[in-house]
Amino acid sequence: MVSDRPRSDAPPAEAPGPPSVDPFSPYRLGPIELRNRFVKAATFEGMSDHDGPTDQLVEFHRAIAAGGVALSTVAFCAVSEEGRATPLEMVLQAKAVPGLTRIAEAVHGEGAAVSAQIGHAGAVAAATGSRGRSPSPMFSPMAMRRTKAVDDDDIARITADFAAGATMLADCGFDAVEVHMGHGYLLSGFLSPRLNRRNDRWGGSLEHRMRFPRQAVEAVRRAVDGRLAVIVKLNMTDGIRGGLGPEESRLVARRLEADGTVDAIELTGGSSLQNPMFLFKGDAPVQELAAGFKQPIRLGMQLFGDRFLHSYPFEEGYFRPLAQPFREALDLPLVYVGGVDHLATVRDVLDDGFELVAMGRALLREPDLIERYRSGAATEGECIHCNRCMAMIHHGTHCPLLDPAERPGW
Ligand SMILES: Cc1cc2nc3c(=O)[nH]c(=O)nc-3n(C[C@H](O)[C@H](O)[C@H](O)COP(=O)(O)O)c2cc1C
Repeated sequence: MVSDRPRSDAPPAEAPGPPSVDPFSPYRLGPIELRNRFVKAATFEGMSDHDGPTDQLVEFHRAIAAGGVALSTVAFCAVSEEGRATPLEMVLQAKAVPGLTRIAEAVHGEGAAVSAQIGHAGAVAAATGSRGRSPSPMFSPMAMRRTKAVDDDDIARITADFAAGATMLADCGFDAVEVHMGHGYLLSGFLSPRLNRRNDRWGGSLEHRMRFPRQAVEAVRRAVDGRLAVIVKLNMTDGIRGGLGPEESRLVARRLEADGTVDAIELTGGSSLQNPMFLFKGDAPVQELAAGFKQPIRLGMQLFGDRFLHSYPFEEGYFRPLAQPFREALDLPLVYVGGVDHLATVRDVLDDGFELVAMGRALLREPDLIERYRSGAATEGECIHCNRCMAMIHHGTHCPLLDPAERPGW
């Protein structure tokens, strides 16, 4: 006799899942077409001088583009003179125009698009020797002195500087601009309840704390007027007690989405001032990092660096658990960043619903890794997360394990 009840030992009928996204499929990001889903994350190159980008910086991004990414990101460019984190960081002023234009031409010549990260380093800028600016005065361990709180005039001036910097990039032929809203830099500092202790219209409630960051992004959006894709690199969490946490960060992201000022958000975390290793994971090369600073900061780092550079074990795709709830809460395109070495992780992240995947250290280690993934020559990268590349950022960032003949920019 044949029963019409379902057989209990039959395999459950599986609804077919959505087809996996091909990492090599093109993607339209706002006004620009990307050839695949790979982005080179900003890794400060240390290849600018007082006149802006050097030939080395042009060659660095040409080589990364030739290695297969869709979008290469020129790392932190300060929108204001006092917004540099280190003395030789590029300020988006007229003298940077020829070098930036050459970077755009070189990257386009390799079939990729180019972005630049713009921002104001805030309290981190104290490393230049000038008095750092921040939402509220604080002691900066980098400069060994107190920062100065920005006032209403500073906020208006810096907002205009964000717009001017983005306009300059568009005029130089860039395809995208990435507004830095992470790592304790000025806009991220405003979001942080720990760093922003103001009780005026720029501090207190989250609504007030996000006013300046939203205003800066809106100014950028208006300035580029559809010529560039606008990306925000946002902290999901500062990784410090009392700092911005994921729940508030999601509200910020949703607000940016509602503002309609952003084409994508790249999700990061940590604080360059208070918990830098949170954003990298892996080894903390304390002595190498200390050597990059002048005295007395060098001595301070040699003695107390272990405390400041609290290290976290590296895990492949380490920000996925933090980032997934952002995917659920948002419709905006999202860029995943954090510990991607394996092509399988790229596929997983795309299956999680992220549109793009940014990679930093893996591409310093192997600038042509994406091409090697594509050709089948590699399925995983060779970065060992020793983080010694971080100690190079003042004089030409590179992976110490890479053969000098293969180094981009060298
Ligand atoms: C040497 C180095 C320099 C970096 N410079 C920047 C920077 O200028 N701006 C930024 O937002 N992140 C910077 N980062 C962080 C990366 O963009 C990225 O968020 C982080 O390295 C995690 O990605 P990964 O695991 O693929 O390297 C830097 C990372 C490294 C290793």
